[in-house]
Amino acid sequence: MKRPLIVGNWKMHGTRSQALLLSRSVARGLQGIGAVEVVLAPPYTALAAVGEVARGGGFRLAAQNLHWESSGAFTGEISPGMLKEVGCRFVIIGHSERRHLFHESDRWIAKKVAAALEAGLAPIVCVGETLKERKRGTARRAISRQVRAALKGTGKNVIERVSLAYEPVWAIGTGHHATPEQVGQAHGWIADASKALFGRTWGRKNRILYGGSVKPDNVNALAEVPEVEGLLVGGASLKGADFLKIIWGFRDVKLGQHGRS
Ligand code: PGA
Repeated sequence: MKRPLIVGNWKMHGTRSQALLLSRSVARGLQGIGAVEVVLAPPYTALAAVGEVARGGGFRLAAQNLHWESSGAFTGEISPGMLKEVGCRFVIIGHSERRHLFHESDRWIAKKVAAALEAGLAPIVCVGETLKERKRGTARRAISRQVRAALKGTGKNVIERVSLAYEPVWAIGTGHHATPEQVGQAHGWIADASKALFGRTWGRKNRILYGGSVKPDNVNALAEVPEVEGLLVGGASLKGADFLKIIWGFRDVKLGQHGRS
């Protein structure tokens, strides 16, 4: 079994002092979690502070975005090296809010993945279909295209460092998570696209996460899906108690599954 990965994406929420309080309470609740790798992605202004908590806190630090160049005249952007310096190990790339609200293209996302890997960061690449694509029956095509575009320049030797997050756009922040059947099927499509790029063995070395309205009361059903190897949690990661319930709940189901297999 791959070590499950659970990521809290705080988006544009929280001042530095709020982020410190939340990250400390998460750190306290993670004692003994061992089996799960936990990552927090605060806003840029809180990265350094939360990075200090991460040092002794049993979780790792992620940024929510990056630029592919190492420096230059790119107003408002942050480079991979800057993220590394404040303690980031992970970076979220191609979140649907970046794709749709900020018009990030597949080409940009590919450049970001390459730059993150080059810098030694672990990219968490988000893919997922819109409601229109699901209704039209083109969800598989959209997801496979996104996976191919993001990873086609990636070497086999670093593929283990990449995670792919299946985030159906219609499930993000809406309270409507995808059903376990939909999640299992889409994770299968992602695994197939990855295997088509890297071969049967290497193509399954990356972890595939689910994201979109994950809450304490649906985590068990999602964790029961064998193809789900972790979670990307937005809204519920802003409440320490809820995020911890999700992490521990996921862990218990996965350890149980592993025990049975
Ligand atoms: P949500 O967000 O959990 O609030 O739906 C998930 C995400 O955007 O990563």
